[in-house]
Amino acid sequence: MRRWQGDGIYFGGDYNPEQWPEETWSEDVDLMRQAGVNLVSVGIFSWALLEPTPGRFEFGWLDRVLDLLHDGGVQVDLATATASPPPWLARAHPQTLPRRAGGAILWPGGRQAYCPSSPVFRERSLELVRAVAGRYAEHPAVVMWHVSNELGCHNVHCYCDVSAEAFRGWLRERYGDLDRLNDAWGTAFWSQRYGDWAEINPPRDAPTFANPTQQLDFLRFSSDEQRAQLRAEREVLQTLVRQPITTNFMIGLGVKYMDYHSWASDVDLVSNDHYLTAADPQAHLGLALAADHTRGVAGGDPWLLMEHSTSAVNWQPRNVAKLPGQMRRNSLAHVARGADGVLFFQWRASRAGAEKFHSALVPHAGPDTKVFREVCQLGADLRALAEVRGSRVDADVAILFDWEAWWGVELDSHPSADVTYADRLNALYGSLWRAGVTADIVHPSTDLNGYRLVLVPTLYLVRDADVAALHRYVEAGGTAAVTYFSGIVDADDHIRLGGYPGAFRELLGVRTEEFFPLREGEQVHLDDGSTADVWTEWVHPDAAEVLASYTDGPLPGVPALTRHRVGDGAAWYVGTRLDEPATDRLVARLLAEADVRPAAPAPSGVEVVRRRDADRTWLFAINHTDTEVRLPAHGVELLTGGYCVGELALPAGEVAVVREDRPDAVAVKEVP
Ligand code: GAL
Repeated sequence: MRRWQGDGIYFGGDYNPEQWPEETWSEDVDLMRQAGVNLVSVGIFSWALLEPTPGRFEFGWLDRVLDLLHDGGVQVDLATATASPPPWLARAHPQTLPRRAGGAILWPGGRQAYCPSSPVFRERSLELVRAVAGRYAEHPAVVMWHVSNELGCHNVHCYCDVSAEAFRGWLRERYGDLDRLNDAWGTAFWSQRYGDWAEINPPRDAPTFANPTQQLDFLRFSSDEQRAQLRAEREVLQTLVRQPITTNFMIGLGVKYMDYHSWASDVDLVSNDHYLTAADPQAHLGLALAADHTRGVAGGDPWLLMEHSTSAVNWQPRNVAKLPGQMRRNSLAHVARGADGVLFFQWRASRAGAEKFHSALVPHAGPDTKVFREVCQLGADLRALAEVRGSRVDADVAILFDWEAWWGVELDSHPSADVTYADRLNALYGSLWRAGVTADIVHPSTDLNGYRLVLVPTLYLVRDADVAALHRYVEAGGTAAVTYFSGIVDADDHIRLGGYPGAFRELLGVRTEEFFPLREGEQVHLDDGSTADVWTEWVHPDAAEVLASYTDGPLPGVPALTRHRVGDGAAWYVGTRLDEPATDRLVARLLAEADVRPAAPAPSGVEVVRRRDADRTWLFAINHTDTEVRLPAHGVELLTGGYCVGELALPAGEVAVVREDRPDAVAVKEVP
């Protein structure tokens, strides 16, 4: 792995100077300096300008841009520029265009109009990477390389004939022979048996439900094909450049189809893009979850927020602008959760094109604006936080997450359309957030030693080895909680027989004989006062202690919540969809049992996270409420330079970062 350079927190965004006359560029650099911008991503959508006709490269404009940035002290994350092919590619090679499941072609005119399995696209894109990297490998402004852009954002699933052939190749690799494929796909069902590889296609539009394992394998294949582009570009870069290589992931619950756990080893640093669902007043919880997940993908290392927005985006139905102070809270929440850089899309708001109503660091109205003033403030804040760079985030709780389980659980023809992957994850995460507890969101194969509590929401598809590891973790004294519709199938999406929750039956000490999903809107009640909906099941508490049972609904008297002692630990099972207050109570019990404490005892609506290095800790506190709050803290507050002795007063909407003194040092400090 190549190390990142520099010693502060990165601050900046996508810079698209090609959208502007050259006279604007020096003003851009002046404003960047004013704002404290120290890193910009350049060239992301520049293929058509860099290679206006096949094989003829024009680098003059980019030479001038990079020199100007370098003279202004702004570093560059240089794109390989392969994100969106120029129109000439499709004209010369129409077979590079992707197709939908129904056969419709996706034409150029938007972006990413290429088939991810196209050998022609691969060859032409790598030629561009070679040309760009060859030219700028030694440019002093370039500190990082940015492969493509949001790989798979629009073209992850292509159903064309080229993709079909690539899918067959991927399946041969996975299964070796057709008998194994027929077995894995369960093709004895509905007369689907394949006698020749050539008979197999991607799951194109079919009269009814397509084979679920075929669907699952196609999703795996599609993620791998996108990853293959990353790896191919990385391979070229590695021979030509020495700077670290990244690509912007889209970790969050809005983007489902890239298995980033498997991609993480292909980048030198993990970077992520995150956009709020701005109309959601609780959107900062989704932000925190995405940040904790990005850190999980990064194996706990610091990561880079490659894109977020200063204010509104352009692609939601109603693009709500950020209120004063909100951008700062959002950006610093990412830093609190392990980001060592916060960048935005984009530097200057476009005049033309599909994203002209997307916010930027420099809005249409220019620098005399709330947005640009807040951008300058953020630049100053990040300079004040330079010392946190490289530190890690404290987390005693792990939440297991697997993209394959997400794909599996949301396949069609399941017991209830109301069971979604995000649902219990969001619910449990929300309860932790409200309790001031940070979680690492990690793959089920992650080493769990060192966590006090492990939460397992809706892990429908799970591998035996990961179940065994969780078992050992509990036996050794850990606490785990598993929610309904977990452990149901193996990696082939075959039911684990003998009763649900299949793989977790032994760990949880329960056996379910039948699911009883609820009607839309139907609620049930538990004898501990909880309310639930969506899901109930006929649980037999074979070895587990019953903590709560249904008082009504289809299964009165049947257990809904159980706990099973295993070795020195305990495994809890949640067999229904508890509402928010009941989930908060459940999580409070789990935290108490596992002895997990919040980063600081904080009033409701205040986000608290702690970062730590070998000898210092920093407490981040973000006040999402509209009143001043007080919380215990002692040390230097880095954003104001003030000192807190025992208590931090945090005004409405404000953020504080306290370099904490050891408690025994507090007594001797005076208020300055
Ligand atoms: C990202 C993308 C950027 C820009 C942004 C708008 O998905 O990488 O190029 O389109 O969204 O929010």
